[in-house]
Formats: sequence, C-alpha cells, structure tokens
Amino acid sequence: MEIPVTDIKFSDEKLAKVKEIMGRYPEGRSKSALLPVLHIAQKQFGNWLSVPVMDYVASLFQIKPIEVYEVATFYSMYNMKPVGKCFIEFCQTGPCMCSGVEDIMEYTEQKLGIKMGETTRDERFTIKGVECLGACGYAPMAQIGEYYYENLTKEKIDKIIDLFGKDDFNPDHKYDI
Ligand code: FES
Repeated sequence: MEIPVTDIKFSDEKLAKVKEIMGRYPEGRSKSALLPVLHIAQKQFGNWLSVPVMDYVASLFQIKPIEVYEVATFYSMYNMKPVGKCFIEFCQTGPCMCSGVEDIMEYTEQKLGIKMGETTRDERFTIKGVECLGACGYAPMAQIGEYYYENLTKEKIDKIIDLFGKDDFNPDHKYDI
C-alpha cells in the first residue's frame, strides 16, 4: 500500500539516527550514508522504496532524486515495489543450487500459486530468488525479514507458510522452524 506523501517523514527517533549516520562522514560526503539511510527508510515506509520516499531521502541529503534512484535500483536488497508481509528470498547461487533450492523454490511457487518475483493476492507472501546470502554451509537457505532460515526442506516450507501466513506473524521475530 502506498503511503500518502504527506505522511512520508521519519519519526523523531529515526531522524536523529539518520543525522547521526550522516554525521559520520566528512563535510560534503554525507551521500556515503545513503545505503544505511535507505534501509531505515525501507523499514519505516512499508518495506519498499516508493518514488516519494526516495524523493524525501534526497531532500534530506540535499541531492537530486536521480542520485537516490541510481543507488536504490542498483542493489537487490531495496524493494522497488510493494512486497508481502512475509518476504521470502531464496538464495539461488551455486551451493544452494547444488543442495536442491530449485526444488524448494518450485514447491513454494506451487503451494502459494505464484511465481518468483510475485506477491500473493492477499499480500501475505512475496517470493524471490537472490544471489548468495553468505550462509552457503547451511544450504539450501532463504532470508525472511532480517533472519535466515537454513537447511530448508519441503516440510520446513509447509511450516513457514502455515506459521507466517497467520495474522500475528511478526517479520521482526526469529521463528524456530
Ligand atoms: S550459495 Fe546460498 S548462501 Fe551462499
């Protein structure tokens, strides 16, 4: 859901954090703080970066909006469109591929009735294939919110869909699967 432009403003607490991060860089170089600030923006404004949100970030840095778009669209960890409450990012690089992630991804697509990159109609789940997440020893794995879910099996996917599809699912909580 798109947030009204008038509501796009960091909370006082977040704004203080943003200023602190920008202050870590020398005069005229605060643009280097764009990556962490975009993470904060994404988290506060619904887990994706709409154009008005990126424009707001540009205004804080006093830079052109295009300079923010360039950065945000380069990195896969920024979402350029709305995602479901449970956003499952499957690692699809070598070791995870060799450990059967393709099967797991296909199984998840069938269970949810969507393809990679899509969101369920009820906006509960988004699934996506991404590159190595640095947990190759625990392949096949996926990231959901800020947490990793490792050694995935079809049974674990069943559990994730059951548990994470509930109304009280909290993306900021690490669940035992
Ligand atoms: S290959 Fe999957 S985490 Fe590295």
